Amino acid sequence: MQPVPEIKGLPFLGHALALKRDPLSFLMGIQKNHDPIALLRIGNFRINFVMTAELAKYVLQENNKNYIKGRAYRILSLMLGQGLLTSNGDFWHRQRKLAQPAFYKQRLSLLVDTMHDESQLMVERLKKEIPENSYQTIAVSKIMMETTLMIVTKSLFGTFINQDKIASISKDIDILNQLASDRFSNPVSLPLWFPSYWNFQFKSSSKRVAGLIDEIIETRRSALQKNPDKEFNDLMQMLITAKDEESGEQMSNKQLRDEMLTIFIAGHETTAVGMSWTLYLLSRHPEVMLKLREEIEQVLGKEGKPSIENLRSLVYTMQVIQEVMRLYPPAWAVTREIVTDDNLADYKVSKGEAVMISTYALHRNPKYWKDPEVFNPENFSAEQVKERPGYAYLPFGGGPRLCIGNNFALMEMQIMLIELVRNFDFQFIEEVVPEPLVTLKPKGGLKLNIFLRKL
Ligand code: HEM
Repeated sequence: MQPVPEIKGLPFLGHALALKRDPLSFLMGIQKNHDPIALLRIGNFRINFVMTAELAKYVLQENNKNYIKGRAYRILSLMLGQGLLTSNGDFWHRQRKLAQPAFYKQRLSLLVDTMHDESQLMVERLKKEIPENSYQTIAVSKIMMETTLMIVTKSLFGTFINQDKIASISKDIDILNQLASDRFSNPVSLPLWFPSYWNFQFKSSSKRVAGLIDEIIETRRSALQKNPDKEFNDLMQMLITAKDEESGEQMSNKQLRDEMLTIFIAGHETTAVGMSWTLYLLSRHPEVMLKLREEIEQVLGKEGKPSIENLRSLVYTMQVIQEVMRLYPPAWAVTREIVTDDNLADYKVSKGEAVMISTYALHRNPKYWKDPEVFNPENFSAEQVKERPGYAYLPFGGGPRLCIGNNFALMEMQIMLIELVRNFDFQFIEEVVPEPLVTLKPKGGLKLNIFLRKL
């Protein structure tokens, strides 16, 4: 066994600056010359960057117990508590078992209407902004974020939250996100008890968000007490009533709060960013847009409503979404901490070090993709998928920690896309580059010229 090849970095800082300034180009450059593995550093923190589907499969699935959620998720847990995304071991396993049924496909079918209603409201709002027989330049990222925020809010809480509360919660979440992002790339950060401005901001935003969610849980619990048979077809209901099969135990208020906050945060920015990139790429590829429209019209007619059954027939629509998330995976990196010394292929890795899989780099590794920089939905035709190792494409991660919301997200993106391409044409304005914060955002936001289509 040999040591992992170390990439030369700055004294003390290691690769902190490169990872902060332009991580995507930095990682792609390393992948070009050091496939399958290279060692990076942020200060003393050692990160094994793995670049192949085989190693990703080993870490996320085959030996997943030795690769747990570490530093990055500890930072996130300052914001999310011990929810599904950030917890480990038996606690995570129990929570996953409790939450999983809420995301079964037949349960999700209850949310199709919510997704469709919110997509139609988005269309109506957009229509108001576009003058007749002309177009309007629209800040697309913002609209996508507002829509996915409404969808996740209604899916989680039903009607148990009002607009003001949504606005307040999302403002605080923006602050938390920004502060967490800063912490990721800083080699040293102050402990939370230290009376810094950062810590003060962080704590007051966290407290407000937690207070609001607690309030919603309380209101629901008392509604259920008054009327125990009432069916609220939302995720909160599933989580509140979920029972451990063996022990009969249910989630405490604190666990509920952490899970709901996790789903709330994990469940809207990722999808919004995915949708922005979808419209960006469609504006650059009118031939794909044409084919997409043809399929939607063939399956649903001009105004037909999506359902869980007919969404399955929108094969090309799904290929487009998959290809968008190949080039611009909203979760652009997944990291783990090594529990005990191990070997990754022929290389020795040690306890306490990190492993990083960059989906952005993996999805552009020429080993698995012909013309990796080209947008081509045919990459997801049944034949091509069969020929590729499964772990070459990981927009939702893999193994037992696979995204619990993957079907939710794909359904939501299909429904939003149907309504958008039916009603509008999208004109490309200028090139946008990706900015890897917690999610992979279009830098500076995405603007497109939007035209009304005559149905
Ligand atoms: C396009 C949209 C989405 C993308 C790209 C995405 C991506 C991911 C990825 C990569 C992971 C695994 C992280 C890791 O292994 O370290 C993950 C986990 C998770 N995601 Fe998503 N996600 C999306 C949408 C959603 C939605 C809509 C929800 C909820 C409604 C959600 C909830 C979660 C949760 C709770 C976890 C943690 C699962 C566990 O470890 O048990 N995600 N997501």
